[in-house]
Amino acid sequence: PLPERFTVPFAVPPVKRPIAREAGLTTYDIVQRTAWAEILPGLSTEIMGYDGLLPGPTIRARRGERVRITHRNRLTVPTVVHLHGGHTPADSDGYPIDLVLPEIEGGAHHGGLHTDETGVITKGSRTYDYPNDQPAATLWYHDHRMDFTGPQVWRGLAGLHLITDEVEEALDLPGGDRDIPLMIMDRSFGADGSLRYPALDPELADPPGVYGDYVAGVLGDVILVNGRPWPELEVDAVRYRFRIVNASNARRYRLALDPPPPSGPSFVQIGSDGGLLDAPVGHDTIQLAAAERFDVVVDFGAYPVGTAITVTNALGVGSTDAVLRFRVVRAARETSRVPARLAEIEPLVPAPGATVREWRFSRGGAGGPAHWVINGLAFDPSRMDARPRLGEVEIWRFQTDLHHPVHVHLSPFQVRRRGNRGPGEWDRGWKDTIDLAPLETAEVAIRFDDHAGRFLLHCHNLEHEDMMMMSAFETVR
Ligand code: C2O
Ligand code: CU
Repeated sequence: PLPERFTVPFAVPPVKRPIAREAGLTTYDIVQRTAWAEILPGLSTEIMGYDGLLPGPTIRARRGERVRITHRNRLTVPTVVHLHGGHTPADSDGYPIDLVLPEIEGGAHHGGLHTDETGVITKGSRTYDYPNDQPAATLWYHDHRMDFTGPQVWRGLAGLHLITDEVEEALDLPGGDRDIPLMIMDRSFGADGSLRYPALDPELADPPGVYGDYVAGVLGDVILVNGRPWPELEVDAVRYRFRIVNASNARRYRLALDPPPPSGPSFVQIGSDGGLLDAPVGHDTIQLAAAERFDVVVDFGAYPVGTAITVTNALGVGSTDAVLRFRVVRAARETSRVPARLAEIEPLVPAPGATVREWRFSRGGAGGPAHWVINGLAFDPSRMDARPRLGEVEIWRFQTDLHHPVHVHLSPFQVRRRGNRGPGEWDRGWKDTIDLAPLETAEVAIRFDDHAGRFLLHCHNLEHEDMMMMSAFETVR
């Protein structure tokens, strides 16, 4: 039996406290461990969490502040940490075979260990360095272990990483406790409260993946926001900023407000995956696939005090047709505004004769019908499928058979067209993940600027990713 919706109070994940802060370098320690959490009222759920939390603690950094995080693996399975949307050096980017083995002996795991000689394997812990040398943006970190990202994220290994900068701070956008993350994930639970994921092996050893019935990825019937099922948030009758993150394994959402405001758009989008837009844009619906982020302002001043506003999901049915509820509880003084200009966005203009790369996302290939492949090939961590030169704008074309949210590590891109039209309604700004419909093509401009090394391109439907829909490329000087 599912819990009644909109009865659980809303919560924001805690901000992580550093263990040291020196000139330009902030150090954190995160312990990956299992914990018991009350997610569904009255039931206990065993999770795998960063610091034992679902979602993990939020990292907050300023642009250019170097952050060093030591992750300790007190789980019984190998892990890998990736900062999604980060301009991160390759050795801290969480290459899927750069495993951190459990600190504790006796975790059964030798099956599923990709001891490819090119992987950098550490035991017990690993220190990741994040330069945060990039515009203010909503990033998130999550597990990226080869073949097992889906089940490990499902069990809880995901958290927020927010970067701010002077540009953002000069804008008077809603801030403080009116700047709220909404990390959305769907999950399913057994009658005893346990998380249910249909992996063949509950030990996460071997073989990886899910087959047959999970062509669209693994979907749950409970919608969590910041780890709470369909919560209700009490708000003042003023503007709020919401950083919407789709941290679901595979579910896509089309969000709307019910009732919509009597005038004006429901959502004023101010940012996308890679940071602020150049100018705000109004939407009545926001559609987002796995891993996409939308930074929006909602003006509750448009509603009478006492109104309950449901965030609905037009792509869901039954229990998944709504995500959370707001309740406008009091009038308050407005202190924020949404300026007409937000940030400077440098347009990426490919030079004549720029390199064009094609990436076809489809089912099947050499691995058989259960696999998902890119350009007909299953992921091989030691095969580099492209060698883009740092500093050059390239054109990348994506083509799909079914729905695939395509994600590129290291640098964001700008969408140039979908099919033979221009960019779509939700394609503005710096994107690192693009939601492609079945049999769709899209063209983006991308430039890798800052780090040479091995990075990834993959489908962010985590079940497709685990079933080999990844490709490695190496950026070169
Ligand atoms: Cu959010 Cu390669 O991942
Ligand atoms: Cu996919």
